[in-house]
Amino acid sequence: MNLEELAKKFRAPAFPGSYFLSFEGIEGAGKSTQIVKVKEDLESRGFRVLVLREPGGTSFGEKLRQAILNSQTDLHPVAELHLFASSRAQLLHEVTLKELNVPNTVIIYDRYIDSTLSYQGNARKLGFETVLQSHLAFPLTLVPHLTFYLKIPADLSHGRQKLRNAPKDYFEKQGDDFYEALVSGYEKACELFPNRILTINGNQDVESVFSDIKGHLDQLILENSPRPEN
Ligand SMILES: Nc1ncnc2c1ncn2[C@@H]1O[C@H](COP(=O)(O)OP(=O)(O)OP(=O)(O)O)[C@@H](O)[C@H]1O
Ligand SMILES: [Mg+2]
Repeated sequence: MNLEELAKKFRAPAFPGSYFLSFEGIEGAGKSTQIVKVKEDLESRGFRVLVLREPGGTSFGEKLRQAILNSQTDLHPVAELHLFASSRAQLLHEVTLKELNVPNTVIIYDRYIDSTLSYQGNARKLGFETVLQSHLAFPLTLVPHLTFYLKIPADLSHGRQKLRNAPKDYFEKQGDDFYEALVSGYEKACELFPNRILTINGNQDVESVFSDIKGHLDQLILENSPRPEN
């Protein structure tokens, strides 16, 4: 299978009235900041909103998260890929699918498959084929209805990380080339999934970024709400 054929194997789950969303972007792109705002907005419209992060969200996933992020040795990219896929499958099974079954629920992932494509696929050079092939078994074939890719240049990521003054984790210790590879990985993911992934300019003030996201959300909800019969 070529990449385009592989990409067609991935579908959003069909749960009427519920939505699956994800946020993507390099460190400091503004994912956590925007997720808080989107959650508030959706709750004010009557949705039940759950925010999930990977790896984690289940007791099994949290253990994997600590294993990866605190690793003192370099993990082989194939080991990284399968650790993330493993935690992802468990979170989909244990939480996401069950919760989406409840009407009017929105599940928001803070990073999902496009992070794996960008990090392990592109920056760690496994290739998109290898990443997508490792996700061909259900429930890993599930992708969000919409993914917001908050695009910022690598140097802005460094600037925001310095301002934040947080200790660097496993991935954040990488050099400039790694960040450039992450950005180009996201670009490739956007080309492969043009209908699902929306690129949002993350290099604007917080309210302008949110307003761009909200415009797309309004459209998604409007398109899927039952039309009055006449
Ligand atoms: N649009 C913005 N303009 C200026 N600063 C911002 C903007 N959005 C977020 N920030 C600031 O940049 C820093 C990183 O933002 P945030 O934590 O939301 O990014 P993130 O994408 O979740 O990063 P990470 O991948 O490391 O979790 C924070 O200090 C935040 O206040
Ligand atoms: Mg964050």
